[in-house]
Amino acid sequence: MIKQAAVYTGKAKTVYATDDPELFVMEYRDDATAFNGVKKAALDRKGKVNNYFNAHVMQVLEHQGIKTHFVKLLSDNESLVKKLDMIKVECVIRNVVAGGISKRLGIEEGMVLPEPTFEFFLKDDALGDPIINESHIHVFKWATDAEVTELKRKTFLVNDILKAWFATAGLTLVDFKLEFGRHHGELLLGDEFTLDGCRVWDAVTQEKFDKDRFRRDLGNVIEFYEAAAKRLGINIPE
Ligand code: ADP
Ligand code: TMP
Ligand code: ASP
Repeated sequence: MIKQAAVYTGKAKTVYATDDPELFVMEYRDDATAFNGVKKAALDRKGKVNNYFNAHVMQVLEHQGIKTHFVKLLSDNESLVKKLDMIKVECVIRNVVAGGISKRLGIEEGMVLPEPTFEFFLKDDALGDPIINESHIHVFKWATDAEVTELKRKTFLVNDILKAWFATAGLTLVDFKLEFGRHHGELLLGDEFTLDGCRVWDAVTQEKFDKDRFRRDLGNVIEFYEAAAKRLGINIPE
């Protein structure tokens, strides 16, 4: 496999073509952004920590029957993935009220929901990733009705798997965002599952181990990412 030119440079990752038209190299950079790119910084080791964290989570999900784009780790900052035709909607599940839903609906952070809620967002930085509904997805043809059903089913399954695993490490999976893409007639989980795209709190103290440390200037962002990884048994080389 030969890495070729960059095809997309996002806020935190760069995607490269390869000599295999079916495969991309995904490079995790040290860049951190929040509020759709408004707040920016470079955080030492972030790319490496996220690359290893994501690789481990994707492999756990594969073992539990969730098909993903992940193929293998290539280096500290790079993974090989299957090229997907990305669906431009983001799937968010919340187990506990925090962040966007707290602001939008005026509900205090920390309320444990009686059951998980599901939300769709349009992946569009210029618009600030607005919340959308299934009717919007239908009329604007961002995904078929069958795909919408599958996006929800798979995201709820991921929640069941990860919530239970994180709980064994004394961590509460508060919320998370997933992106999926089409691959030979199937929907595969794409992009990443890292502490950049979810909220994870200590189950007892509610201390934050996720990107809210960066968003809210709480400090020690990567130290907490590594501490969460350690609790979950995810090995990140020095
Ligand atoms: P953003 O685009 O939000 O700034 P990143 O910096 O993480 O995000 O860039 C990674 C980009 O690659 C995202 O736009 C994501 O939708 C896209 N992507 C993720 N997985 C795949 C894949 N397997 N095939 C093609 N594109 C992908
Ligand atoms: P929110 O509280 O900002 O609406 O986000 C809910 C969760 O989903 C939170 O863990 C962050 C994640 N998320 C992203 O990572 N990127 C996004 O574009 C969106 C909308 C949410
Ligand atoms: N994912 C978006 C960004 O990186 C929004 C956020 O995390 O606040 O800017």
